Amino acid sequence: MSQIALRRVSKSFGSVAVCRDIDLDIAAGEFVTLLGSSGCGKTTTLNMIAGLEDCSQGDILMDGRRVNALSPVERDVAMVFQNYALYPHMTVADNIGFTLRMRRLGREDIRRRVEAVAASLELSHVLARLPSQLSGGQQQRVAIGRALVREPRIFLFDEPFSNLDASLRVRMRAEVKELHQRLGVTSIFVTHDQEEAMSISDRIAVMHQGRVEQMGTPQDIYARPATRYVARFIGNPQVEPVTGVIEAGMVIRLGAIGLPLPSRHAHLPVGHKVDIAIRPEHVRLGEQGIPASVRLVQPVGPTTHVTLDCGGHLLVASVPGFLQVAPGTAVRFELDPDQLLIFDHETGRRL
Ligand SMILES: Nc1ncnc2c1ncn2[C@@H]1O[C@H](COP(=O)(O)OP(=O)(O)O)[C@@H](O)[C@H]1O
Ligand SMILES: [Mg+2]
Repeated sequence: MSQIALRRVSKSFGSVAVCRDIDLDIAAGEFVTLLGSSGCGKTTTLNMIAGLEDCSQGDILMDGRRVNALSPVERDVAMVFQNYALYPHMTVADNIGFTLRMRRLGREDIRRRVEAVAASLELSHVLARLPSQLSGGQQQRVAIGRALVREPRIFLFDEPFSNLDASLRVRMRAEVKELHQRLGVTSIFVTHDQEEAMSISDRIAVMHQGRVEQMGTPQDIYARPATRYVARFIGNPQVEPVTGVIEAGMVIRLGAIGLPLPSRHAHLPVGHKVDIAIRPEHVRLGEQGIPASVRLVQPVGPTTHVTLDCGGHLLVASVPGFLQVAPGTAVRFELDPDQLLIFDHETGRRL
């Protein structure tokens, strides 16, 4: 278990800056996810932590000690990649035990450790098989086992489930989370999948264009997104902020609609341009409120997502259970002004 800190870490390839001033503090035993769309610098950040890539600037600390000059082996990190590349001609047991053999541990010691890891990953019954005789999920678990058997101080995962089908991906999430709960090894996980990040992490660092846009618990970044970008990136269905203007009498004007301004925003000057968004569970369909027409109805099981067209602005309501309502139906909705997410239109920061 190790505590990890990044201090103003930057990385450029030639003149292209791909990571900018990244500050991270990861507690010993914590499970932190770097979340962001493709190309935002997640893998580069992880590789710098692993020691596979040099920092252009900044410091990486492990347990308070600067490790910039240390090799991956000296940092004692284990990585699991998307392409897990098992040795095809070796059995599962030999794949898992490979790094221990490289370290010249005794046969009996290796056997014991491989069997213990295999048991924890439910691979005991396939130890004698070749990778080609395993399912995708089993292969991925062997890759995790290969990292696990080294008993590293730090686990790094780079989109390890991206090649798996959807149901297996969801199962593997649960397995990795349980494994972390059991072993408590400091872990950094990279994904572009916000749902995966939400379900697995103690805290999430949302990355955007090489920067950490916000770091917080899943609940934090969902309920209190620091920026418009984070608000849109987190949550399913996605919220689409719409632009409005502050009016006298504490109203945000969106075309023909006026929304009451939450009292905490009473200081905003008249004429100020804002972007507002609201999470679907805070939009209530009912007899009263703002008129809208139903555009789209999407049942997802526990809830139904209803897309409303309100004077040309689209917003989504999440309604418990199955709701049957025809597109085009006139409805009304209410929302709690305190639940409005209000962003400065210019800076994109939440007000
Ligand atoms: N070795 C490299 N040389 C030049 N550009 C690179 C190199 N590695 C990554 N990049 C660029 O850096 C950016 C971030 O890449 P990466 O960290 O792989 O993003 P992510 O993992 O978030 O998809 C991308 O634009 C990518 O093309
Ligand atoms: Mg990547």
